[in-house]
Amino acid sequence: MRVLITASAGTQRLLAGECGDLGLRPKRVPAHGVELDLDWGQIAHALVHISIGQRVLIRLCHFPCDGADSLYEGALSVDWSKWIDADQTLAVAATGRLPKPRQPGAQRGQLTHHVFASQRVKDAICDQLRERSGRRPSVQLDYPDVRVVARFHGDACSLWLDPAGTALHRRGYRGDTGAAPLRETLAAAIIYASEWHGERPLVDPFCGSGTVLIEAAQLALGLAPGRNRGFAASGWRHEGAELGPLIEAAQERERAHAKESIAKANIDIRGYDINVDVLRAARVNIARAGLANVIRVEQGDATRMPPPAPGTAIICNPPYGERLGGDEVIGLYEAMGRHWAEFTGCEAHLLDGHEAFIDAFGLEWADSLQLTNGSLPVVLRHYRLGGRRKW
Ligand SMILES: C[S@@+](CC[C@H](N)C(=O)[O-])C[C@H]1O[C@@H](n2cnc3c(N)ncnc32)[C@H](O)[C@@H]1O
Repeated sequence: MRVLITASAGTQRLLAGECGDLGLRPKRVPAHGVELDLDWGQIAHALVHISIGQRVLIRLCHFPCDGADSLYEGALSVDWSKWIDADQTLAVAATGRLPKPRQPGAQRGQLTHHVFASQRVKDAICDQLRERSGRRPSVQLDYPDVRVVARFHGDACSLWLDPAGTALHRRGYRGDTGAAPLRETLAAAIIYASEWHGERPLVDPFCGSGTVLIEAAQLALGLAPGRNRGFAASGWRHEGAELGPLIEAAQERERAHAKESIAKANIDIRGYDINVDVLRAARVNIARAGLANVIRVEQGDATRMPPPAPGTAIICNPPYGERLGGDEVIGLYEAMGRHWAEFTGCEAHLLDGHEAFIDAFGLEWADSLQLTNGSLPVVLRHYRLGGRRKW
């Protein structure tokens, strides 16, 4: 089966690397993710183990599409009774750039927005099933039994099944968050990019709800991020009905492995945050992930923290200033730069989302990677600390 594992902008090469490490060979690495040919067992493996990808999608069909009518007709080309029964729930999402009408001024049947596009696909599915059985599935946007994704590209559309049902960043450990939590998949991408594997200490001086710390521990200890969450495919009844049991068997193995791996863990991961309420949330999340004995967090100011041992990797996303005022956040970056310049032998990987960060921090970075944090363009900057301040 043709599978697309989607990735947030800038993380697709890292995701391709992770797929390779998991024994899943990428066929292509387009701008929006990684394409692979996988069987059901490999799809289950990807769903339970992938940490950087946002969704694992299974392709159903691909057709030319210039508007609502061709979208509806294209969606009818799938035999939906293979995938969904009338008593199950359905959600359809649409993504990508919608096609423009062929003739200028031809507005009829134009796909004007993604909600309309998803409704046309939903109509085709429901009409086909009602015609055959007299009944149709009901729509449920959260936790549907079957989730279909329509992806638009140029003058074509492809339809995909989403066997997870909800995005893969929902690992099941995060309840409480701080003000600006990092998405779990982006945190995993940053750890991957840092090439930290648990062999040296790791510190997140702005740990917030603990996402970087938890994802780092999971990667270092080889814990499958999907070991504790639910998957829509567990409710599939016809084609792909074997996927649910394959996922559940993999999860059971991975939960047993996690127990062993956590009990033997010998890694040094710690976090600081200035805000005690946020730290309380971090402790809850860390405990939910089963990592209370592995990760230490305490209150601390990143501009006065004790110098980490040489070799330590500092990985974090400092505040972008949504809560601090403009001058205050710049003052924070300046104080960080002055204090961290003394951390000889340490490396820092910082997710910079503020136009004034480089000048205020004042150290020269070794390399960088363009990413997005939600809709915000950000840059992951890699610093080797202990050199002179440049400006
Ligand atoms: C962008 S958030 C980090 C989010 C975190 N990565 C997560 O996933 O929840 C920045 C965090 O820095 C903390 N903070 C702000 N100033 C700080 C300082 N001087 N020292 C330590 N933490 C600080 C805030 O309380 C906030 O939790």
